[in-house]
Amino acid sequence: MNHSIQMVDLYGQYLQIKPEIDKAIASVISNTAFINGPEVSALQKDLENYLQVSHAITCANGTDALTIALWALDLEPGSEVITTDFTFIATAEAIARVGLIPVLVDVNPQTFTIDTHAIEQAITPKTKVIMPVHLFGQGADMDEIMRIAKQYNLFVIEDAAQCFGADYYSETKTQKLCTIGDIACTSFFPSKNLGCFGDGGALFTNNSELAQKIKIIANHGSSKKYYHSTIGVNSRLDAIQAAILRVKLHYIDSYNAARRNAASQYTENLQNVPWIHTPTISTKSNHVFHQYTITLEHVSNNELQDYLQQHMIPSMIYYPVPMHKQEALQHYSPKPCPVSEKLSKSVLSLPMHTELTTEQILYICDTIRSFK
Ligand SMILES: Cc1ncc(COP(=O)(O)O)c(C=O)c1O
Repeated sequence: MNHSIQMVDLYGQYLQIKPEIDKAIASVISNTAFINGPEVSALQKDLENYLQVSHAITCANGTDALTIALWALDLEPGSEVITTDFTFIATAEAIARVGLIPVLVDVNPQTFTIDTHAIEQAITPKTKVIMPVHLFGQGADMDEIMRIAKQYNLFVIEDAAQCFGADYYSETKTQKLCTIGDIACTSFFPSKNLGCFGDGGALFTNNSELAQKIKIIANHGSSKKYYHSTIGVNSRLDAIQAAILRVKLHYIDSYNAARRNAASQYTENLQNVPWIHTPTISTKSNHVFHQYTITLEHVSNNELQDYLQQHMIPSMIYYPVPMHKQEALQHYSPKPCPVSEKLSKSVLSLPMHTELTTEQILYICDTIRSFK
């Protein structure tokens, strides 16, 4: 049994809905509208309905979504964007790509999302945007982030690559993450909570003017074929990916419920292990467990990872190098972020996907408990 444990089981998930997916792909092939076309428009509508957001604009990947979102704000080159030190490179990379300055700040040691006190401390006259990441499937403190943004007149772009489908319980209402900031960006990378069979991404906004700019930038700076009002990029979602995503969107709530169920089984079996902290679930959002990430005390994540590998259990260190230590970002003279640095040595993400069985989870937990 144990040799079959995978970090992510995309094929197993596909087999559950194979007839629907195969039919959706075949239908795109037979009508040959491979780029944009009716499937892509229909997916955009489906996403708007699911999230309850006015505009969903699909694009080629999540990194493009972040880049295009920043581009659409028309900021002065050299403007500062405050973001988290503990994330995937794409967040900071997108900021740098459009000539803006990534200002990396530390994270909350419990939730691993951006520390809102650190945001306020990092604000300067050049700050124009806050870019929180809803890391591992749970929301950053959007109430506080929106309060700060309002006070200092800043834009907010949510990096929602890892939280598709999660709800946020704000002080006044429940709404989906992806609908709170001025723009939100997601990724449909295959292993994401809503993943396609290649690269894909989308931007969401309730602001019609921004939506129009985003559509134009993502389509060669054009709203009318062969007329280009600005310089843009070619960042489109393939119709085959759109067709797959339309099928999988029907299942996203059950996928996220399966992830939550796996997470609660992990927590039940690991919570009394003295050298492990199981994930802290914020009361402000319903965690959709893109990752199930434990934090280790007095044990290095590399050591436990090696031990699990010997027992045929995959695991991943997200992220082994915090952004302020990345060579590519030294040009921006980042400040130290001690919490994220400590996390990079102590976090370990365990197998997490919709097809995990109780038997597998128990085997993983038993093996972890036998480590010390
Ligand atoms: C937090 C975060 N932001 C952005 C991205 C970029 O998404 P993509 O791989 O679709 O470009 C990812 C993907 O891993 C991510 O995890």
